[in-house]
Amino acid sequence: MTASRICRHFASDNYAGICPEAFAAMVEANQGHEVGYGDDSWTEKASNLLRDVFETKCEVFFVFNGTSANSLSLASLCQSYHSILCHELSHVEGSECGAPEFFANGTKVLLLPGANGKIDPSSIEKAVNKRTDIHYPKPRALSLTQATEVGTLYSLDEMRELADVARHFNLRIQMDGARFANALVSLGVTPKEVTWKAGVDVLCFGGTKNGIAVGEAVVFFNPELAHEFDYRCKQGGQLASKMRFLSAPWVGMLQDGAWLRNARHSNSMANRLEAAIRHLPNISISYPVESNAVFAKIPEKVVDAMHQRGWKFYTHVGGWEDSRLMCSWDTTTEDVDRFAADLKELMGG
Ligand SMILES: Cc1ncc(COP(=O)(O)O)c(C=O)c1O
Repeated sequence: MTASRICRHFASDNYAGICPEAFAAMVEANQGHEVGYGDDSWTEKASNLLRDVFETKCEVFFVFNGTSANSLSLASLCQSYHSILCHELSHVEGSECGAPEFFANGTKVLLLPGANGKIDPSSIEKAVNKRTDIHYPKPRALSLTQATEVGTLYSLDEMRELADVARHFNLRIQMDGARFANALVSLGVTPKEVTWKAGVDVLCFGGTKNGIAVGEAVVFFNPELAHEFDYRCKQGGQLASKMRFLSAPWVGMLQDGAWLRNARHSNSMANRLEAAIRHLPNISISYPVESNAVFAKIPEKVVDAMHQRGWKFYTHVGGWEDSRLMCSWDTTTEDVDRFAADLKELMGG
């Protein structure tokens, strides 16, 4: 196997291109002139499709990436003297270069533990009650990642339990849904059940990893929290002048269910990959495979040999101790089988 024979990698779902449905919608949007800055027909249509998906009158904003979606939405939940509770492995904590604190003018991020990348509900109480004096940044928001950074999911019951605790301590809930579609299809629930009905105030709904070129939707289920969010976006450099090219792909994805198909496909590729490698000697799967990621402990020299063969995948990123194998909307069964065959050969299996 040479690098040139490898078309697709397992490093990140960001490595994949634009899926045909999103691309076609961009091409269709590329006709004539449209009003700028979000007052266009594509943005209206995409926002309405999202309202249909969530079966509620949510406020919708389209931004360029997940870091800005998380940071600006969290900033809208907090004052600068508040704190945000999130899992210690979260993207908000480890992969956003301090943007949540920056955009919220100093709001502190406090880290919570929990097995399998999921916040342990009892840790919320500990963090809130650790100190209640005026010198401590008052906890105000709970940030949950669905699917988590290690590919696991909060079940509906787990969501409800966390929401109960959050409500008890007057915490607003933000959901980092960079891989929300993957979580949804795997949980087999409706979008509303796992978001606003489960207590989520604002969702950062990932488009990029699902097959869109650029962009995430910030969906406020609590409209009061969206007050002047458009100004926050503008100030944060997140108000696209040619907004139709951020919103049109969402129309392409949502109108015929491509977002769900893509998520189902990438999840099933992860399941196939896990099944193909889990029994190899000296390899262990680190977390339950519940979305489109497989985390595995692979001996370092085999990782190096796989890299030398041209396979790209991350190791030791963001505090993980594992190889992260991420499947995308365009990962094929051949990609998975070739990767697994190479791994098997190098493991001497
Ligand atoms: C859990 C999670 N949240 C958010 C993001 C979005 O980050 P970006 O700013 O790179 O779009 C990512 C991307 O890797 C992610 O994995």
